[in-house]
Amino acid sequence: MAKAKKPVARSGTKRAATTTSAKKSRIARPAASPKVAPGELVTLLDLVRYAVSRFTEAGVVFAHGTTDPVAEAAFIVCEALHLHPDQFEMFAAARVTAHEAGAIVALIEQRIATRKPAAYLLNKIYMRGLPFYVDERVIVPRSFIGELLDAHFSGNLENEGGALIDDPFSVARVLDLCTGSGCLAILASGAFPNATVDAVDVSGDALAVAARNVADYGLEDRVALYQGDLFDAVDGERYDLIITNPPYVDAQGMANLPRECRHEPAIAFDGGDDGIALVRRILDGAKDRLTPDGGLLCEIGRGREVVADAYPELPLLWLDTDESEGEVFWITADAL
Ligand SMILES: C[S@@+](CC[C@H](N)C(=O)[O-])C[C@H]1O[C@@H](n2cnc3c(N)ncnc32)[C@H](O)[C@@H]1O
Repeated sequence: MAKAKKPVARSGTKRAATTTSAKKSRIARPAASPKVAPGELVTLLDLVRYAVSRFTEAGVVFAHGTTDPVAEAAFIVCEALHLHPDQFEMFAAARVTAHEAGAIVALIEQRIATRKPAAYLLNKIYMRGLPFYVDERVIVPRSFIGELLDAHFSGNLENEGGALIDDPFSVARVLDLCTGSGCLAILASGAFPNATVDAVDVSGDALAVAARNVADYGLEDRVALYQGDLFDAVDGERYDLIITNPPYVDAQGMANLPRECRHEPAIAFDGGDDGIALVRRILDGAKDRLTPDGGLLCEIGRGREVVADAYPELPLLWLDTDESEGEVFWITADAL
């Protein structure tokens, strides 16, 4: 490895860096809202209905793993009860104890009063059904790339759109640029079972969270974390696949970030005046970091036109997901 590469301590040593608040029990608060009398909210479904009404009344914004009040409420209720969100239906009609109801109502009120994303209140987010630890040191993961790894890179020819990499078992090296919590690097290690994954972030805080997640999945041997500025952190290396969800919010978007997003690190959003300052550097540098058959998968949010105007010569393939249209592009090394 070249000297610019700066390995980050492995997850085990980083665990101590997590906030102590994360360790507090979620069912510890006896508080209830003045709006709810004891015994009025009896089932999980009652609590979800109440939360949806309160969130809607309060104008809460949903942009952190859930996109509507029902999903957000179900996430909070399940997580407070140590249930996976997929178990909600099974237990919707189940009764909660008064203590559990009080703790959940307190969380709902905290969500409204602080406008913190629920993922921070609960130190948890799910991507593709898998749990990841998060706290305010890192953006709450919500990248479309997780879904695209399943849809276009799993080698499952039944998937819509077909495979962009024919044989996922042939992928030996993946780079996750701007890794944040490490969620995409971890998902990539599952999509490409023979690959090692290098994951880069400029933020030491984010990498401490990523290290915890890598350790939680026991992936210390396959996912390596590096601190540095984009490709500088892995100078001289080449990869079969680069995935990246860089900061891509333009100046106007930064000025208008919802209160929820202001709890997240600004460095995770700030893409410069036109939003593509980092995307430009990634596009300009990717060819020299890819193997000849490799490719780049890059999320850019709503900046498709800006990117297309800046790189009219590039045959970018714009990909859709269940909840996005053309917010991620794919380009092969060959075409770069
Ligand atoms: C939009 S977040 C994506 C995080 C994660 N990949 C995800 O999808 O949840 C962007 C990340 O890029 C990191 N970042 C910002 N500037 C960077 C740079 N110059 N080099 C490397 N990482 C950078 C931020 O710290 C942040 O963690």
